[in-house]
Amino acid sequence: MPAQNSAPLIAPSILNADFAHLADEAAAVAGADWLHVDVMDNHFVPNLTLGLPVVKSLLKATDIPIDCHLMITDPDRWAIGYAEAGAYNVTVHAEAVADAIGTAANIRKAGAKAGLSLKPGTDLEDWVDVLRHYDTLLVMTVEPGFGGQSFMPEMMAKVRRARSLVDTGHLTVVVQVDGGISADTIEQAAQAGADCFVAGSAVYSAQDPAAAVVALRAAAAASRPAVG
Ligand code: DX5
Ligand code: ZN
Repeated sequence: MPAQNSAPLIAPSILNADFAHLADEAAAVAGADWLHVDVMDNHFVPNLTLGLPVVKSLLKATDIPIDCHLMITDPDRWAIGYAEAGAYNVTVHAEAVADAIGTAANIRKAGAKAGLSLKPGTDLEDWVDVLRHYDTLLVMTVEPGFGGQSFMPEMMAKVRRARSLVDTGHLTVVVQVDGGISADTIEQAAQAGADCFVAGSAVYSAQDPAAAVVALRAAAAASRPAVG
């Protein structure tokens, strides 16, 4: 995918939205590229959020493609349900998945893009071969579990390496970053070569969430490395 030739993708995370009004919160970011939904099971991560029934309701309430980030144990078992429900992208964690290639195939067979996420301590080099079976690589720029944490600039080496694997034709993934992305940090992530930017508090704590999406996209576009 010639991702760097297309506009940066902005994916607001509803983790930081009002869970009692999710349809309104999706409408508040109508121009977003993907709507990022953090599924946490109080097991793989300490936090507990929402699951498939809420995602099914959200799918009916918005036209924005839904990006499910599964921070759960045993994603091999559960990921397919989100794909079958109509999620656009379903991301599992490398640290939790047992059969990474088989699970990617199942997600794709059910009609969704397959994503693989790496926690900050997980080495990209160990997953390069597996990533040939995936559409999205989610580089965590915080420890997964909570919104509002500080961006880890040291993860930019991983993003740069991923960008180079894509640009040299070794991988065809969308390179996504998640955690602490804001007006202050998005330029670094864009400069390192990310294609897709998850932003929770930066979007939903803004006075105008839709305007925050537009501003983040413009900041990322202005900071991308030259192609070629
Ligand atoms: C953290 C989640 C993120 C979170 C991002 O585990 O995966 O998607 O919502 O929130 P911010 O942008 O506030 O760091
Ligand atoms: Zn997330």
